[in-house]
Amino acid sequence: MNESVIPPRAPASREPGLFERVGGRAVVERVVSEFYDRVEADEELRRVFPVDLAEGREKQALFLEQWLGGEPRYSERFGHPRLRMRHFPFVIDERAAGLWLRHMGEAFRAAGVAEREMQEVFAGLGPLAKHMVNAGDEVPREPLGETFLQ
Ligand code: HEM
Repeated sequence: MNESVIPPRAPASREPGLFERVGGRAVVERVVSEFYDRVEADEELRRVFPVDLAEGREKQALFLEQWLGGEPRYSERFGHPRLRMRHFPFVIDERAAGLWLRHMGEAFRAAGVAEREMQEVFAGLGPLAKHMVNAGDEVPREPLGETFLQ
């Protein structure tokens, strides 16, 4: 077998992706922890979230890792993210989206993520948060339990 047809790919010379550059899983977990601390302390945004934050917290960490280019751990467990649809049971207006973004920004900063990476992350999260706004839309609001979530 002629191995020279396989392009050389030295792992050490591979450009690190965004997930590695923000600091990998440990930093993502710190971001999520900082984010949820802020949600808990924010009376207004807290009302949008369910009483028990544990499940959302875990899912957020799995999703963020995947979204940043780490392992696809969210989809392995829960399938396609279908983010907008999964948010239908929660009434999200422009204001909530703004608060979400502000807290997420502070969470990334508190976790020590550098400015360059912050800009890349929020170039993506900004539009994504706007896309999640559904307060004026006629969408099914009833929580459909696990069948909906998976
Ligand atoms: C715009 C404002 C947003 C609000 C107010 C909001 C709120 C929520 C709430 C209330 C939940 C349910 C948590 C739970 O079941 O415990 C949730 C779940 C989730 N959110 Fe958001 N969210 C927003 C934007 C985003 C954005 C931009 C992303 C993408 C990074 C995101 C990612 C997720 C994920 C991955 C879940 C778990 C979904 C599931 O598997 O059920 N959210 N969000």
